Amino acid sequence: MQLLLLQLVFPFFVLFCSFKNGNAGITSTFIRSEWPSVDIPLDNEVFAVPKGHNAPQQVHITQGDYDGKAVIISWVTADEPGSSKIQYGTSEKKYQLTAEGTVSNYTFYKYKSGYIHHCLVDGLESDTKYYYKIGSDDSSREFWFQTPPEINPDVPYKFGIIGDLGQTYNSLSTLEHYMQSGAQAVLFLGDLSYADRYQYTDVGLRWDTWGRFVERTTAYQPWIWSAGNHEIEYMPYMGEVVPFKSFLQRYTTPYLASKSSSPLWYAIRCASAHIIVLSSYSPFVKYTPQWMWLAEEFKRVDREKTPWLIILMHVPLYNSNEAHYMEGESMRVVFESWFIHYKVDVVFAGHVHAYERSYRFSNIHYNITSGNRYPVPDKSSPVYITVGDGGNQEGLAGRFTDPQPDYSAFREASYGHSTLEIKNRTHAFYHWNRNDDGKKVPTDSFILHNQYWSSNSRRRKLKKHYLRSVVGEMTT
Ligand SMILES: [Fe+2]
Repeated sequence: MQLLLLQLVFPFFVLFCSFKNGNAGITSTFIRSEWPSVDIPLDNEVFAVPKGHNAPQQVHITQGDYDGKAVIISWVTADEPGSSKIQYGTSEKKYQLTAEGTVSNYTFYKYKSGYIHHCLVDGLESDTKYYYKIGSDDSSREFWFQTPPEINPDVPYKFGIIGDLGQTYNSLSTLEHYMQSGAQAVLFLGDLSYADRYQYTDVGLRWDTWGRFVERTTAYQPWIWSAGNHEIEYMPYMGEVVPFKSFLQRYTTPYLASKSSSPLWYAIRCASAHIIVLSSYSPFVKYTPQWMWLAEEFKRVDREKTPWLIILMHVPLYNSNEAHYMEGESMRVVFESWFIHYKVDVVFAGHVHAYERSYRFSNIHYNITSGNRYPVPDKSSPVYITVGDGGNQEGLAGRFTDPQPDYSAFREASYGHSTLEIKNRTHAFYHWNRNDDGKKVPTDSFILHNQYWSSNSRRRKLKKHYLRSVVGEMTT
């Protein structure tokens, strides 16, 4: 009984033990008894099927174009295809507009999916609340979303960052804390449902439960998707060998709008941010489609319009946890010099089930003759942040390498999520919020200075612009 209590009644035992190691940062040893890392049972209310024949379920939206004037609304009907029509408008219960989507389904081993609908709703006004209705008659359901403001270098916007979520009680805690954050869109770092931990028909069923589990937020604000290893689902023993099959059927991305040839890598612009999504599990070396696309996409970034350049990927390039150690090394060798050249502000990754933030470091001087193969402080480098701590059934990655490397600023093995609150072209507030005894506790916070606008020459230019506008105001 005592053992059971220890396992279930998570008496969080906080012991902060911070130690400095040379110039390196802090290793927080937050020790806790966590909820058991098991998925929530199928009959739990968090997975409840909405009432009514063929009622739409697993509703989720994502940005539908390059600049945030469209959304893609997706949902599943279980019994029959039904309608793929969306009714929408800017007043509640008044739906003057309609959009028609598509419907498809797929099989995975002997599992037959429900009818998956995707509907592009475009031509939307910026910074506007839209109400939408899907389904028909008694089974129809209504939701709403807010479009982002027009692309503008100084418009504020708040992103949430979640990775490796799964469907455990820890996942639920992360989700609930995120929903209290006031963030407007989620940058999701891959590994959604962990359905691939199951076998045979249960794989598909656990994609369905996950879709219903996250609907409480995904129906109301865009989640920007990136793919992780748990989306690959290469399962030859079940005859399933098409990579990313379930993920690609269920979760769409606006990849064509950024001239990408694959939904797994693409870019969007949202408010004052240019967000590039990369695929850790697709070819990325020189001359591959992803490499060629990224070379072009970096050229399309206009820091005068979108000052914030953010990259999402699943496998971190800088990771000092023993879990997945060095897995990002091959992509680092290929892309890191571009990240420095284009002054990327921040790279978010998941995969490692812990939290870690880097200082501004780079390791781009190595070649097979130079021998210079160590990370060095670099003011032009992005900050690398791993937020793979959504709370899935695989549990925490509690073992960090010792000593802590110089590039590592802060690391802690607990569950949580992050927020990035962009204030203007130069400053953003960043928080990592640990799930702590049912509360969200901001544990790692800092002010992110924009890499483009905060550099000295840009700062001078900004000051000149500011002075000119102030003088202009005084003389008019
Ligand atoms: Fe992963």
